[in-house]
Amino acid sequence: MGHDLRAALSISGINAGVFPRKSMKNITQEPIYLHDYQVPDYLIDTIDLTFELNEEYTRVKSLLNVMANPLATRQDRHLILHGEALELISIALNNKPLNAEQYEIKNDKLHIFSVPDEFTLEIHTLIKPQENTALSGLYKSCGNFCTQCEAHGFRRMTYFLDRPDVMARFTTTIIADEAKYPVLLSNGNLISIEKSEDGKQRVKWADPFKKPCYLFALVGGDLDSVEDYFITQSGRQVTLRIYVEKGNRDKTAHAMEAVKKAMRWDEEVFGREYDLDIYMIVAVSDFNMGAMENKGLNIFNTQYILANPETATDVDFIHVESVIAHEYFHNWTGNRITCRDWFQLSLKEGLTIFRDQSFTADTTSKTVARIQDVKDLRQSQFPEDAGPLAHPVRPESVIEINNFYTATVYNKGAEVIRMQQTILGQDAFRKGMDLYFDRHDGQAVTIEDFVKAMEDASGIDLTQFRLWYSQAGTPVLKIKDEYDAKTGNYTLHIEQTCTETPGQPHKKPFHIPVKMGLLDQQGKELLHDLLHIKNAKEVFHFKNLPSKPVPSLLRHFSAPVKVQYPYTNAELQLLMQHDTDLFNRWEAGQQYALNVMLKMIQDVHDNKPLHVPGEYISALNHLLLTMQHDKWLLAEMLMLPTEKYIAEYMTVVDVDAIHHVREVLATEIAKQLKPHFLTLYEEHHDVTAPYVFNIHEVGKRQLKNTCLFYLMLLNDETIPLGLKQFELALKTNMTDTMAALATLNNIDAPERDMALNVFYEQWKNDPLIVDKWFALQASSKLPNTLKQVKKLLHHSAFDIKNPNKVYALIGSFCNRNLHCFHTPDGEGYAFLKDCVLQLDKINPQIAARMVKPLSEWRRYDVGRQHLMHEVLEQIAQSKNISKDVFEIVTKSLKKQEIIA
Ligand code: BES
Ligand code: ZN
Repeated sequence: MGHDLRAALSISGINAGVFPRKSMKNITQEPIYLHDYQVPDYLIDTIDLTFELNEEYTRVKSLLNVMANPLATRQDRHLILHGEALELISIALNNKPLNAEQYEIKNDKLHIFSVPDEFTLEIHTLIKPQENTALSGLYKSCGNFCTQCEAHGFRRMTYFLDRPDVMARFTTTIIADEAKYPVLLSNGNLISIEKSEDGKQRVKWADPFKKPCYLFALVGGDLDSVEDYFITQSGRQVTLRIYVEKGNRDKTAHAMEAVKKAMRWDEEVFGREYDLDIYMIVAVSDFNMGAMENKGLNIFNTQYILANPETATDVDFIHVESVIAHEYFHNWTGNRITCRDWFQLSLKEGLTIFRDQSFTADTTSKTVARIQDVKDLRQSQFPEDAGPLAHPVRPESVIEINNFYTATVYNKGAEVIRMQQTILGQDAFRKGMDLYFDRHDGQAVTIEDFVKAMEDASGIDLTQFRLWYSQAGTPVLKIKDEYDAKTGNYTLHIEQTCTETPGQPHKKPFHIPVKMGLLDQQGKELLHDLLHIKNAKEVFHFKNLPSKPVPSLLRHFSAPVKVQYPYTNAELQLLMQHDTDLFNRWEAGQQYALNVMLKMIQDVHDNKPLHVPGEYISALNHLLLTMQHDKWLLAEMLMLPTEKYIAEYMTVVDVDAIHHVREVLATEIAKQLKPHFLTLYEEHHDVTAPYVFNIHEVGKRQLKNTCLFYLMLLNDETIPLGLKQFELALKTNMTDTMAALATLNNIDAPERDMALNVFYEQWKNDPLIVDKWFALQASSKLPNTLKQVKKLLHHSAFDIKNPNKVYALIGSFCNRNLHCFHTPDGEGYAFLKDCVLQLDKINPQIAARMVKPLSEWRRYDVGRQHLMHEVLEQIAQSKNISKDVFEIVTKSLKKQEIIA
């Protein structure tokens, strides 16, 4: 396994002390701070890499041109390089081998003493990719070699200045057995291919652009490929190539179209053109993340490339497009302009999420795309911001940077960019982007540099706005209003607060852009405006209003805040039907459903009978009659807030009550609106039509499957409906198959097991579909789900070394199945603890992500708090936990006075 590699490799004399990992616990688990940033003492101008790929080991030769940094502050002349899990074979400085006195290896660092101002350094190391289960650095996936270098993977191949502000020009030579590894790829342009008599192939690549080493990539394997091309706006032809594991070429067409679509969009919307002659994507089965933007050679999790109607759902199709767009957009926001240090991660990730969200909004449905973004933010970022792991969009200290690829850095970071667009307006924002690209092309910069470009381009002062980057926590807007019938004056009082977060007891007021409108009692829009909230309390006056208006607040979700305004149900219904801001129509519906459910939860606690208000059902009824022109939005509006979102509104989360009430409400909706659902279902369920992916068809399918979801809650009478859809769609339409199977999955009937078995038999040779099968069973609401999940851990198709399998089975259960995970006996927690400890030895990044649900222990009742706390303690006290898991667990346990 990954960690044993270190021991296995301590064979030669020169590297005594290379692998002292455990004894260093106290050193490596110390946080590093943003305010300690110093420019690098040395710069590396060029790096010439040679990889010899073998079965037993891989030999890495690195030739560096190093020079002292004229801006450096440190006085000694020691060069310190990063390196982890390496066997050092030799080092030569200016072609002279170094002896044991001239360097030292300590704490994953190579110190070379007394170096000149300019010199070459040649380093040989050995690594064992085939034993690398951490999937960071060079590793093997399904027999193919590939790399993942962000954030600190490069140092697991050779000693280097592994920090993003050291940018070098790379050339890479890969030598491997041609029969086994015919495809040898790296960044940039292909320079040469040589074949030798011993069956080896030697391929050389050169990347003309300077880059930090986290953008390095290498692939070696026996892969299929498809090729296409793109003509850029300036008329250059770019070769596009997608590489996939053997037998998957028939699932690449959608990805290829997506690449072209993203390239065109970035030219049209941001004026950004691709800059190399070739753009390659490689899809691999074993990958910690979704995808990675290595220069000219993106590496993807197969999940975000492979798609065709039989194997992928509508949602999969959309994800493939947006992840491809995301990684492609990084070429400008991340690669051409990169981060100075990892505290600036949101500079590239928040900005690129914003860009991929804009792309999806432009190319699918603006409203539904925004709804999806907001749902994600509320479900993953809001809880993070309210718990012990809360941190600013630009964190100030970290132990393990891999733990900071968070919803806050990504999704809230994107919201912070979006607010700047709102404050500046489209045109000035575009000017700001142009200025940013112009000013900083080829540099490693900071978030401050980005905001400065926005200010300089627009003349707008963003001093106060910058607090969004440094203060954690979700602001709350308490809004009250009054109307004076005599004068026609209407007043809005807006008060902002933000609860304390770890290390930040008091917050300064944020600059919050609030888009709003006023509707009259008939639903006609009277006015709309953009309000700037800058003080803790603000008052806004509106004159000459004929009657008390209904405010439509925070339109299109113009800021990542929580709004509290005492809407009546009638007002929410009015907004649902008439708001010109379609996002807020959805929002009003969600708020209405939430109010209904929170009231029902209260009734559960008071032992009162549950009552579903008739007006709520008639509001939905009205939607069904009037919203059919926008089927996708209608489908979204018919869906209830998730259990996780309801939990956000409770001081003490009562998972059982939430689950029960949501089921009761959904079933009542199903009962009362059954005739509508049946008609709509029949109207939109065309079994003979082949699957086509476009927003019109997606809308129809989403609406139809939402109807099916409700109908299937009526159990016995409607099971045949779901079963029929499942059987008819099984081989041709994954969207309809999964929708039907998902409903059957919650029904305790023989049909459920039958369908799950048929599904597995049909698709057992497709790993991504087997993932769906695992995920589905782990999300079942049936009471024996944990038992099933434990059983599935031993299923022949499960593999704990494959991150997709872990996410599908363990992740779905612990992260998404609130009701089953949080059983009062604590079995779910104990299960997660066992998984985390086992995973940590294999892949610490994945283990650290899996453990996160436990961090929310303070939100639950005393009994559950106690149980969750106990397993956190047990993990913390286990021997040799990684710093990844250590950081999450210790922060989760830390005493603090925060009240969620
Ligand atoms: N740069 C990241 C990939 C990454 C993240 C590498 C963390 C190493 C550590 C990439 O651009 C990214 O953000 N990928 C996302 C998908 C994206 C669409 C949000 C991912 O992998 O989840
Ligand atoms: Zn990214």
